[in-house]
Parts: sequence; structure tokens; C-alpha cells
Amino acid sequence: MYRYFAFSLSGSRCSLLVWSLVGCLLILHLYTFVHDKDVQNQENHMRISHHSQFRELEEVEEEDIQIPPPRGKRSPRAAKRRPRKPHTSLIDEFLDESSQIRRIFFPDLETAMDPMKDAGNDTPYYYPGRIWLDIEGNPIQAHGGGILYDEITKTYYWYGEFKDGPTYHAHKRGAARVDVIGVGCYSSKDMWTWKNEGIVLAAEEKNETHDLHKLNVLERPKVIYNDKTGKYVMWMHIDDANYTKASVGVAISDSPTGSFHYLYSKRPHGFDSRDMTIFKDDDGVAYILYSSEDNSELHVGTLNEDYLDMTNNMNRILVGQHREAPALFKHRGTYYMITSGCTGWAPNEALTHAAESVMGPWETIGNPCIGGNKIFRLTTFFSQGTFVLPLPGLPGSFIFMADRWNPADLRDSRYVWLPLTVGGPVDQPLEYNFGFPLWSRVSIYWHKKWRLPYSWRDKD
Ligand code: GAL
Repeated sequence: MYRYFAFSLSGSRCSLLVWSLVGCLLILHLYTFVHDKDVQNQENHMRISHHSQFRELEEVEEEDIQIPPPRGKRSPRAAKRRPRKPHTSLIDEFLDESSQIRRIFFPDLETAMDPMKDAGNDTPYYYPGRIWLDIEGNPIQAHGGGILYDEITKTYYWYGEFKDGPTYHAHKRGAARVDVIGVGCYSSKDMWTWKNEGIVLAAEEKNETHDLHKLNVLERPKVIYNDKTGKYVMWMHIDDANYTKASVGVAISDSPTGSFHYLYSKRPHGFDSRDMTIFKDDDGVAYILYSSEDNSELHVGTLNEDYLDMTNNMNRILVGQHREAPALFKHRGTYYMITSGCTGWAPNEALTHAAESVMGPWETIGNPCIGGNKIFRLTTFFSQGTFVLPLPGLPGSFIFMADRWNPADLRDSRYVWLPLTVGGPVDQPLEYNFGFPLWSRVSIYWHKKWRLPYSWRDKD
């Protein structure tokens, strides 16, 4: 009896314990269920609001350009500049100064983006390829450029080649050129209304032995800020008119609007260097990337702490791939780079490359261009990349900045700015990590007209 009582007592204790355990588990389960639902709702909400903001940017816009019937002879210069690959008919029209459809690629002044005319209009649209006026009504001159966001002045600074001079050929076989005027700088708070801050690094008029002498070449200037020294440091491609000097130049300034003091040029790591860029990582380490070995490969190296020189640390990347015009950016710890092929001022196909470290190895993951039509996608929308600007506050969203070169009149080259997003699977099966692809797709969407997402436009 006692045993039975003890047993039933211990049995009821036991069942009480079991039931309490079950109860606890149920409560825990309910809690996690409600919590999960909450997180899911939040994520869904973010996704939906992100999606609705980006739907507009990621819409695929097609182009249907009718190629006019063939005329007699093409401009011989256009034929010479045409890339060797097929699909050239529309490229021929693009390169032909007298083409009937030239205005499609180079619309005239009447259609210019004019922030002053559109002042008060809350929908500042970018029109890739149209003339873009600064706040004084002059076409912006910042080709092959890059943008620095200055934390101190909370302002964007756009630096680029000021090409406002006549185009000519120094030699019969040489590339079209404009004498060096210097590096133009424009400032803006909204990335649409730009104020001309003047020439922040000027050409040298008289001293023929100076790197910046007007008959030389100064291309693709980029500026980064050094947090330790408090200086703004500019790196650029320095060359002679025949592109045989193949060097990089360095200049320094106390303020983003200059004047920049030119320091020196050199062949990085002792190698020839043509198209180049610099990249400052979140940890303050800065890198230089340049096309080398006659543009057959790229080299990447770290800059010194003061960014005024480079270390000996250098790796060869994309060996044998013949890429130039590198534009680098970072997303969720992965580095991405857009490059162009090497066809001078003529447009060609962009490619994306990805890496876990800036120093490489880099893997080529395909053409980022979406929309337009096949020839648009094979010519980077008739432009060549120069910089990728992250949109602060919108992770995964960037502006792809490119130049639509006009080799017949380089000063009239246009800007092609387009939304770039990172996400989704890459087109080709590439490196996998435990079944997960290592890289995301980088997409650049063609638009005749587009604007930044409202959450970005409305911020102060
Ligand atoms: C391109 C290069 C430009 C400029 C041009 C001259 O390949 O990207 O920056 O150097 O050649 O032909």
C-alpha cells in the first residue's frame, strides 16, 4: 500500500514534471513561433519596401533602334576605331560622326539635363547620354572620373578629366586627344545638382619636361581621403602623347576642392601602367589597380599608410584577359570589379569580376549589363566604366558611372550613369562553397531615364 502510494505519488510527481516540461516546451515553441513571425514580417516588410523602391530601377527597358540603310563610304576613322568583333553595324553608326542616328547616342543641347531649369522639380531624373549642365549652365567636364563622399563637408565631389578643348590627332596613327587642361572638380549634396569647383590640378603650359605639360596625357583621376594625415590624395594615369610613359601620378591637397599639389609619377612596381584606379577599404587600407604588360593583365597592390606611394606588395590578376577601366566596389565583404575590354575610345563588353580579397585571386563572373538590346549589352550601353559609387543607406545599391566617349569631339563625351545592384545567382556555375555559390550577380540596368529611390532622395 505504502509502496503503491509512494509509487503513485512519485508517478504523479513524474507526470507533473513531464507536463510542466511539455508546457514549457509549448510556451517556448509559441514564443519562437511568434518571434520568428515577427522577424519574418520585418524582413518581408523590408524586402517589400526595398523591392518597391527598386522595382523601378530593375525594370528591363528595351531599345529598338532602326539602323538606316547603308550609305556610300563610312568615315575611315570610324572604320578604324571599330572593335574587331562582329555585331558592328550599330557600333559603326555610333562611331560615324555623320550617321543619321547620331542624335540617339549624342542628343543635342536642347535635351540637356539642367538642374537649374528643373529646380523645384522633385523628380530629378538621370538621362544617360544627354548633356549634363552644372549650376552655371555649362556642360560638366569630369570624364574618366570618380566620386569622393567627404564626411567632413557631407558633400559629394566628382573629379574627372576636364576635356574642354579641340580634339586632334598628334600622329596619323595616334588616338584622338585633347590637350591636358587639368582635373575638374564638381560638388553636390544630391548627386544631381553640381557646382563647378574649378580645375583642382592644372596642366603645365610652358615646362615641356613636366608630367602635366599640356601635350602629355592625364587620365582617370581618383581621390581618396587619408584619415590619419587628414589629406586628400589624388592618383591618376600619367602618360605622353604616344602612351609610352605608362605611369601613375600622385597629388595631394588639404581640401577636397584643392588646389592639389602634384608630387611625382612613376611606373608602379616597375611595370607599365595605363588605365588605373584606387580603392579605399573600410579598414583604411588603400589599393591601386592598373592595366599592365601592355594591357594584357591587371596588377593590384597596397598603398602606403599615407597613400602617397605604394608598398612592394603586388599581385598579377586577370592574367591574359586584356581588361582595362577597372572600377571596384565592396558588398557584404566581397569585392567586385567591372572592367572593359581594350578598344581605345570605342565601346566594348563590360565584365564583372569577384574576389574575397582585393589582392585576389579574382574570378570573372560575366557581363553585368541588362536591358537595351544585344548590341547595347555588348557595348556597355555604348560606354566604358569609370567608377562605382555605393549609395549610402541602401546596401546592395550602387551607381555605375561610365563615359560615352565621342572620339570625334572628346569634350562632348557623355556620362552614362545607371543603377547597379548586387544579388541573385550568377549566370554561370562558378566556384561553390559547400553548395553555396561564392558570388552574387552584379546587374547594371539600362534606362533611358531613371531616378534614385525616394528614400534616398528624401533624406537630408
Ligand atoms: C581607352 C582608355 C581611355 C583612354 C583611351 C585612349 O582604352 O580606357 O582612358 O586612354 O583608351 O584611346
